Amino acid sequence: MQELKVQPIRNGTVIDHITAGRAVAVMRILGLPRPGSTSTITAAMNVPSSRGRKDILKIEDRELDANEVNKIALIAPNATINIVREYEVSRKEHVQLPEKVSGLVKCPNPNCVTNHEPVRTQFLVVARDPVKLRCGYCDREVADVADHVA
Ligand code: CTP
Ligand code: ZN
Repeated sequence: MQELKVQPIRNGTVIDHITAGRAVAVMRILGLPRPGSTSTITAAMNVPSSRGRKDILKIEDRELDANEVNKIALIAPNATINIVREYEVSRKEHVQLPEKVSGLVKCPNPNCVTNHEPVRTQFLVVARDPVKLRCGYCDREVADVADHVA
């Protein structure tokens, strides 16, 4: 039996099974809270679960788009995205980190061509948890991915 630590929501998105300690980084890459938005956001951290501890984020009255889901995979590779409608989970999606990441991350190398020409960044995923990327243009490795999400 799971203890109810946080209220269920009526409509919105629940990002569940976030690696413990990463909820704040997930909020940062999603640009939450959005200035001017009235949507209620609840964060629960270090919540006990069957697989250890996890963080949870609930964003009411908003459904995340595919681009936002892909960004979450960069820092919380085990997260599930639950779309809630009228109190029911109407869709559950596991985030997926592809082998290559296009466009979502900015290269930290100031000399990289991607910072000077209008080209889409391309990174190879060289480690998954925590994620480490390698720039396809200059080979620079990026470990602190949350700080470089575009
Ligand atoms: N949830 C919520 N409000 C609702 C329905 C669900 O906040 N009205 C939350 C639950 O608390 C849980 C997540 O959404 O954190 C997923 O709900 P559910 O699929 O019912 O939970 P589980 O079956 O435990 O999901 P999983 O198997 O993915 O762990
Ligand atoms: Zn680069």
